[in-house]
Amino acid sequence: MQTGLNRRAIGEVIADVVIVPAFEGGPPALGVAAEAAVREMYESGEFTGEKMARVLLHRPEGLRAKRLLLAGCGKREEFQSALLRRVAGAAVRTVRSKAVRRAALWLSEELRTGEMASAAVEGAVLGAYDPDRYKTDPKKEEQKLESFAVVVPDGDAGLDGAFERGRTLAEAQNQARELIAEPGNRLSPTALADWARQMAAECGLDCDVVDRDRMRQLGMGALLGVAQGSSEPPALIVLRYRPEGARAGEAQLGLVGKGVTFDTGGISIKPSEKMDRMKYDMSGGAAVLGAMRAIARLKPAVAVTGLIPSVENMPGSRAQRPGDIVTTLAGKTVEVVNTDAEGRLILVDAMTYAKRLGCTHLVDAATLTGSIVVALGHVNAGVFSNNQELLDKVLAAARAEGEKLWPMPLDEEYRELLKSAFADLPNIGPREGGAVTAAYFLKEFADPQPWVHLDIAGTAWLEEDKPEMAKGPTGTGVRTLARLAAEW
Ligand code: BES
Ligand code: ZN
Ligand code: ZN
Repeated sequence: MQTGLNRRAIGEVIADVVIVPAFEGGPPALGVAAEAAVREMYESGEFTGEKMARVLLHRPEGLRAKRLLLAGCGKREEFQSALLRRVAGAAVRTVRSKAVRRAALWLSEELRTGEMASAAVEGAVLGAYDPDRYKTDPKKEEQKLESFAVVVPDGDAGLDGAFERGRTLAEAQNQARELIAEPGNRLSPTALADWARQMAAECGLDCDVVDRDRMRQLGMGALLGVAQGSSEPPALIVLRYRPEGARAGEAQLGLVGKGVTFDTGGISIKPSEKMDRMKYDMSGGAAVLGAMRAIARLKPAVAVTGLIPSVENMPGSRAQRPGDIVTTLAGKTVEVVNTDAEGRLILVDAMTYAKRLGCTHLVDAATLTGSIVVALGHVNAGVFSNNQELLDKVLAAARAEGEKLWPMPLDEEYRELLKSAFADLPNIGPREGGAVTAAYFLKEFADPQPWVHLDIAGTAWLEEDKPEMAKGPTGTGVRTLARLAAEW
């Protein structure tokens, strides 16, 4: 889908439909004859401006466009860019059809800010995406939008920059969604690494893929232990972005993403119901890949290294057993009590490696626990940290991007729950507080570096269509991570 920011009067917009954000309390001022029809919609109560309500008017007077979609934005005083993102997504999903190929969203005077322009294009790009690349039904093509424009009467260059950032972030997020939707038979760790290499070449990032031999030389026993049950070899993908004029001693952000291309649970095998979903267990890795692509385009002032430890967690005659003891890259030993708690094992070796590469701050994203889904459902991702300042930065980036995070505790008392009779740490604690002990396990390897952990198990996948987004992979994390770097 083509996207652009245009400067025009509403009557001059050339598109099949003009989307008009509209508030409760009274019709929007359009300055064209169609205003009368819109006022009638309000007066009859057919449209009140209620949040996410949508109504289509045909042949609006005084417009070159053949349709006008009123898109409800709720109360003016409560309105935020996060809602416009959803409104734009829902509008795009509502109007696309055979007859509507070109859509435009009108930003009136009061909404004409960079934040709004970027939220609008983000919402539209995300809304237009469907994870349907393996469907062969040709009718689908006709129902896709060709173009989406944000239209403003006028505005400064800052608006173009913000629009551009929004487009970049949302396109990177859709690429993450595309990767997540890839099934286990089509996306192995090797395929993920190939994809990363190609992306790096396209956008000017350094890419290094640590293979099994080098993992052995380095001593990444935890990562290797998870990988050994699969005939697919593991890969640790390392992508590096350096700003111009970067100097030694400056902060370096390390983004680490869990890249389990399929999680059967290993010998501690998962129940078969919904196991197909476990192709999404590389969503954290996809978020880091997407963020790195956006970062390469946005060129922030901070150095960023993205690390994706990637494995397939399989049972088999070579697989690690419950009770196996592995030695991590950091030197600590871990008793693998449950082979299904594999994410933390691969993450800690990648985090230790990130530190060795000079990362001063770490942020990881992982579909780490079922426990976080029990705690927070599918609305908020859990966020854990050992450092308030970094946590505040991540929370601010997430808020600006409309990605919901809920802070979770890491009190010292939880450390008691990670006791092994045979090794320094077990890889699981008791069932209660499972998301916290998983995070605590990571913290043992992150300390003393400032670190934030996002448990996105509940937010990386949509079980049902939403008005603004197709069901399936959400690509959550891309925008927050990229924005964090951009605003560093
Ligand atoms: N990839 C899963 C996390 C997960 C589970 C996400 C269910 C979404 C739904 C992770 O590797 C895992 O299996 N975690 C276990 C840990 C347990 C064995 C301590 C879990 O949460 O059940
Ligand atoms: Zn698992
Ligand atoms: Zn997993």
